[in-house]
Amino acid sequence: MTRGRKHASDLTLRPIEESEQAIVYRLVDDYFAELAAYEERPVGPVCAADDPYLPLYWTEPTRHPFFIELSGRVVGFALVRVVSERSAEVAELAEFYIRPIWRRQRLGRRAAIAVWSRFPGRWKLQVSVNNQAAEAFWSSSIEAVASGCVSREEFEGPDGPRIWYGFAVGAAA
Ligand SMILES: CC(C)(COP(=O)(O)OP(=O)(O)OC[C@H]1O[C@@H](n2cnc3c(N)ncnc32)[C@H](O)[C@@H]1OP(=O)(O)O)[C@@H](O)C(=O)NCCC(=O)NCCS
Repeated sequence: MTRGRKHASDLTLRPIEESEQAIVYRLVDDYFAELAAYEERPVGPVCAADDPYLPLYWTEPTRHPFFIELSGRVVGFALVRVVSERSAEVAELAEFYIRPIWRRQRLGRRAAIAVWSRFPGRWKLQVSVNNQAAEAFWSSSIEAVASGCVSREEFEGPDGPRIWYGFAVGAAA
């Protein structure tokens, strides 16, 4: 069986244990290095060890770190945080990464849908305008699962132009 033909059930989200931080930090280093290419102004941490928010995924109950695994092999990660906005809960897909060798096999889309389905309700996420692959990925993936309107708002972020997406996902996405 080729990698691209794996059955959807082979793809799982697994909460990342605190003892596995070193593994995800290595992936976050690669992720930050890749995203830096899309920044018009360099801001924020350049490596996982400099990111003050990462350790909070193992201390704050509103943060949820997941490995994306294909048949037990780590192919990426998803970091989710739940925030309160005008007394309603909104989940944010704060960081999302598929390792380069596993891309363009629909794993990212399946993983994003699995993440959204795990926290049904309102969602938001942002992406750099310059990250055209991710923009295409998010717009098509959100379109595939969103119930109701999808909001898309361009804004000037500290690192350059960015887009906020807002949408809702039902329990059975
Ligand atoms: C963006 C990312 C998560 C996509 O993961 P992926 O597993 O390769 O995406 P999928 O195979 O599920 O793609 C689903 C659809 O998204 C779109 N898409 C994905 N990658 C694309 C690319 N490089 N160029 C154009 N469209 C793309 C396509 O419509 C694709 O469907 P298709 O393959 O039938 O054309 C991955 O490239 C990545 O991790 N990039 C680096 C980190 C990043 O940018 N994260 C998001 C930060 S906001």
